[in-house]
Amino acid sequence: MSLVYAGTCCHAPGITSRGEQADPEIRKQLYEAFDRQRQAIENAHTEAIVMVSSEHFANFFMDNMPTYAIGMADEYEGPIEDPDWLKIDRTRIPSNPDLALRIIKQVLESVDVSYAQEWKFDHGMAVPLHFLTPDYDIPIIPVNINCQNPPFSPLGRTWELGKALRRAIDAAPEKIALIGTGGTSHWPCTPDSGKINEKWDRKLLDDLINKRKQDLLAYSDEETYQQAGPGGYEIRTSICIAAATEDQTGEIWFFEPIPIYSTTCCITTLYQK
Ligand SMILES: [Fe+2]
Repeated sequence: MSLVYAGTCCHAPGITSRGEQADPEIRKQLYEAFDRQRQAIENAHTEAIVMVSSEHFANFFMDNMPTYAIGMADEYEGPIEDPDWLKIDRTRIPSNPDLALRIIKQVLESVDVSYAQEWKFDHGMAVPLHFLTPDYDIPIIPVNINCQNPPFSPLGRTWELGKALRRAIDAAPEKIALIGTGGTSHWPCTPDSGKINEKWDRKLLDDLINKRKQDLLAYSDEETYQQAGPGGYEIRTSICIAAATEDQTGEIWFFEPIPIYSTTCCITTLYQK
């Protein structure tokens, strides 16, 4: 039936692993925003979620790094991290390989994607899923964009991936939600971890919800690294969703810099049917 909901959310592992260390009121508001997004997905009678994330060297390595990859497994397992540390139980996540194959074929009409029949979800998928499908009862089709190690895809190509995903989703009879995760400023695994560039994050979110294509495509990797740290390369996941939903103005449902989670936590809705 096509796209029924699209949005973005944060996936910082600190949200669950050290969740209790944030201001309790701020944490409550973040969890309520996640719950609002969960309800929007459920209210749309979503039959599958296409989740665009940036995994962190858990599956894809420098020996063979796909720029874009789509999963086509029967099911997935996650989180790959220590569940006691991430505070998310390891579980099996169902998928829909038939739908995944149709999406991959449609995307290949215009964008070269790799595909994967095995994939262990790291926090980039596991944290959003923990909040958005806590019973793991909605099939997930994972999409990965290399945001870890350059050379990266030019943002214009990432935009085309978003357009291709939208065409593929709209060609499917299933009701599908599209979620992008990650992309605000953060400096993970560096001495600057915990640093946040709120001004940069606000501009990015404003560009995203208003689908300012030219502004979004003007972010350079060099400036992003300077202003938003190596974690900023993950803007590709959000820009992909903005491209897929260019026909609607979005809304910010949550925005709050939370240094103990090492990033600004954001939740947006970029499309509703
Ligand atoms: Fe990440």
